[in-house]
Amino acid sequence: MHKDIERVLYSEKVLEDIVNRLAKQIEKDYNNKEFLAVGLLKGSVVFMSDIIRRINLDFAIDFMVTSSYGGNTVSSGVVNIVKDISSPVEGKNILILEDIIDSGHTLSYVVDYLKNRGAAEVKICTMFDKPERRVIEIEPDYAGTVIPDEFIVGYGLDFDEKYRNLPFVGVLKPEVYNS
Ligand code: IMP
Ligand code: MG
Repeated sequence: MHKDIERVLYSEKVLEDIVNRLAKQIEKDYNNKEFLAVGLLKGSVVFMSDIIRRINLDFAIDFMVTSSYGGNTVSSGVVNIVKDISSPVEGKNILILEDIIDSGHTLSYVVDYLKNRGAAEVKICTMFDKPERRVIEIEPDYAGTVIPDEFIVGYGLDFDEKYRNLPFVGVLKPEVYNS
């Protein structure tokens, strides 16, 4: 545990089982189909490094960095691409690996952007999905688990850039947000 965590929602073991299930689905669907796995940093770093090692296929990886959150828990709705994919996108089947879909702002922006750049197909694999919070209509093609409307940290997810390194996913004590 960690002093700022009120409650653990997903243990390491549960996260591992979810990742294995997603990897098997992807392996089945992308067998015989080339693809580029694109991680949205920084949140997807832990999920991505776990899942790519469970997908037993040949594929390239790349990264994008987007920003929309400041130091709080509500999306600004304005998405910026801070770092773009470094390989060509045209004609590629892209599988975006994301930590969480909340309002949907980030992913809808990134999907449109990649399609405009000529991607043949853009699919989304998210570890966590918070459909109750959706502002923009967008559905992941693969979702590890649906979570209630709670702000979670750990397994790549941060609050104010902290807690990304926690191996489990939990909810913070209320006093942490208020300090
Ligand atoms: P969206 O654009 O509102 O869908 O937000 C996507 C981004 O917001 C994610 O990639 C996360 O960085 C961040 N985010 C949304 N919900 C949470 C949460 O519960 N904990 C930590 N970060 C979150
Ligand atoms: Mg974040």
